Amino acid sequence: MTLQAGSEAHKALFCQDFIDTHQTFDPETLPWPELTDVELARLRGVPFWQEVYHTERRAGAIVDAFTPQITDPIVREAVRIQGIEEARHARLIKVMIDRYGIDAHEQPMEKFPADLETAFIDFGFGECLDAFLGFGAFKTARESSFLPEGMFEIFDTLMFEETRHIVFFINYMAWREKRRGLGGPRRAMKSARFYARAGKRLFGMVNRGQEANDGKDFAVTQANMFLDGFSFQRFVEDCVNENARRMGELNQQLMQPRLLPSMASLALQGLRVWELTRPHLRRREAA
Ligand SMILES: [Fe+2]
Ligand SMILES: [Fe+2]
Repeated sequence: MTLQAGSEAHKALFCQDFIDTHQTFDPETLPWPELTDVELARLRGVPFWQEVYHTERRAGAIVDAFTPQITDPIVREAVRIQGIEEARHARLIKVMIDRYGIDAHEQPMEKFPADLETAFIDFGFGECLDAFLGFGAFKTARESSFLPEGMFEIFDTLMFEETRHIVFFINYMAWREKRRGLGGPRRAMKSARFYARAGKRLFGMVNRGQEANDGKDFAVTQANMFLDGFSFQRFVEDCVNENARRMGELNQQLMQPRLLPSMASLALQGLRVWELTRPHLRRREAA
């Protein structure tokens, strides 16, 4: 069955699927692993926990604030469930902070604009960008055994939910824009604008993380496990492949994020061509 984006059938599918795949669990009772001193130091040295904790709390607050404004009952129910999941992400991070003595605390929540839908859309594009990069980073961290596997299994649950969130969001946007009569090219331009904003925000976050830790903590906690032999090309490949793998776990009738994976694939083609032609160029220079 091919679904017309923006149709009632499309709406019913992406909302119902999201509602049906919601899982129940309590972050407190997850099988949190015992960490060795070295692992504990590594975990505590990650400079982003403060930002991650706040981002999840902020996500829950935005989604909860937006929910009552949605007039369509099934869309409202799906977004309400996303709010539950975001709040649970914040709780999960808090449980981890307390359990392992991580230096991160609750910070005051900023005021949201009166236009909560725009705040929700900004947040949604931000999630798409964070998740896409997160897929690659998660794989690198997991392969380097930075922390025990049990820890990655817990975070896998979180990543699965974020994958569902971005797929829901992409479908929500297509449905919303179609109803407003926006065609493909204008939708793509709008996405690019929102992604640019999300990129700016992420860049700010990385800078703040570095300032807060002065770059030192992360270095002493063997960030070189990630960075030794780090290849940008490999990282982008991991983002693209992990994105495809995680998307493959969801209902294939749903629309999936396309812009970032195709931009990244294009960049990879460029990098490969560069790698192939570089020796020839060098030879010509030497001649
Ligand atoms: Fe989240
Ligand atoms: Fe999310």
